[in-house]
Amino acid sequence: MTKIDVLDSIFEEFFRNAKIFKDREVLRHDYLPTHFPHREEQIRHLGKIIAPVLRGSRCSNIFIYGKTGTGKTAVIKYVMQKLTEKANKLNAPVKEGYVNCRLIGTEYRIFVTLCASLGVYVPFTGLSVGEVFDRFRITLDSHKVVFLIILDEIDALVKMRGDSLLYELTRINETLRHSKVSLIGISNDLKFKEFLDPRVLSSLSEEEIVFRPYDAAELKSILMERAKLAFFDGVLTNGAVSLCAALAAAEHGDARRALDLLRVAGEVAERNGDEKITEIHVRDAEKRIEHNRVMETLKNLTPHSKIVLLSVYHLNKANISRAITGDIYEVYCELCGEAGLTPLTQRRVSSLVNELDSIGLLNARVESMGRYGRTKKIKLGISRSIVKEAFLQDERLGRLIQYHPGCLPKNMQGRR
Ligand SMILES: Nc1ncnc2c1ncn2[C@@H]1O[C@H](COP(=O)(O)OP(=O)(O)OP(=O)(O)O)[C@@H](O)[C@H]1O
Ligand SMILES: [Mg+2]
Repeated sequence: MTKIDVLDSIFEEFFRNAKIFKDREVLRHDYLPTHFPHREEQIRHLGKIIAPVLRGSRCSNIFIYGKTGTGKTAVIKYVMQKLTEKANKLNAPVKEGYVNCRLIGTEYRIFVTLCASLGVYVPFTGLSVGEVFDRFRITLDSHKVVFLIILDEIDALVKMRGDSLLYELTRINETLRHSKVSLIGISNDLKFKEFLDPRVLSSLSEEEIVFRPYDAAELKSILMERAKLAFFDGVLTNGAVSLCAALAAAEHGDARRALDLLRVAGEVAERNGDEKITEIHVRDAEKRIEHNRVMETLKNLTPHSKIVLLSVYHLNKANISRAITGDIYEVYCELCGEAGLTPLTQRRVSSLVNELDSIGLLNARVESMGRYGRTKKIKLGISRSIVKEAFLQDERLGRLIQYHPGCLPKNMQGRR
């Protein structure tokens, strides 16, 4: 068969097997539902707080907090969409500027984005932050609007850049004559509050709304609602949807995770040519998602962390199931030499081991050595095959996976 024929038959088979998804788009992360089970109270509360902007008053600043996947971003986008519709109908001078602080990153770019929401273009470089801020303020005042600024993932901004932008924004109303600003800050991490000046904090959280995690029953009803749009009738079994909900509930009630499990389970069923989505597909989906998550984490490590991990891999391959830092350091130095990198100090490597331990890629355990005190023993926290798979895709360090460290067999094999 030629290549084209192969593809033809794949496509045809896909259409023949297209009995699972009615509309897979509704399971994508950026799909915005029109109904939010178990968030009615938060939506009502938000509505009551922001309603005054439709009459030209500023509303209280709001701080929204909730763990990841509890619907904060989706709900605020929905509420803003509704507000804009209403404002247009009433001809009310209301504008909104949405910024994801983790993606937008710097004060400069945040002001550029806010200017863009007001329809004004500011160059991406060439001005000082102070100048962009002034442009933003002047533009805003000339628009004569109530401007709602939504700072999503605000903790990322504060952790990276401090609270100076928030300080300016919480005081901006003092310098505006024709426009007004209200702020909505959103975070899944409460710790960032410690980095805020108390005045900024009290101003930002004039109102606070908490999105608590969903339990399994709530997740199940969210999934059922989405599944009605996503799958053909009778495709999704009750066992599968319950399992998706239970797995996500066990992991801090994350609706994003539940929806991902459902989508991937559907894809697995589709690829197998099955007619129903069952618990087996969900289990398979769980493994695939976990695999992708680990691969992603591995790819994003710094070169030195990668080499530390690889050192444990090689030790493990040489039958040293739990290594001590000294052994790891020896292999690490050799691999650095091979890769043309200058090794870090043993102390730095030791802290990299701790970091890798905290994200689950390594597994460190302190063991008692009787009267010789205690020592830390380290092993891989993931399978050797996934490390190999990730490194084989790594252009720079890939070949180190096949390399055999000279310090290994003679001195160490069978030592522990
Ligand atoms: N009550 C709900 N009803 C329907 N879908 C929901 C509900 N809550 C969350 N979702 C969906 O779950 C996914 C995750 O929600 P969202 O992105 O709003 O989480 P988040 O709280 O902003 O998380 P993070 O803190 O990680 O940004 C989205 O696809 C969203 O549509
Ligand atoms: Mg979010």
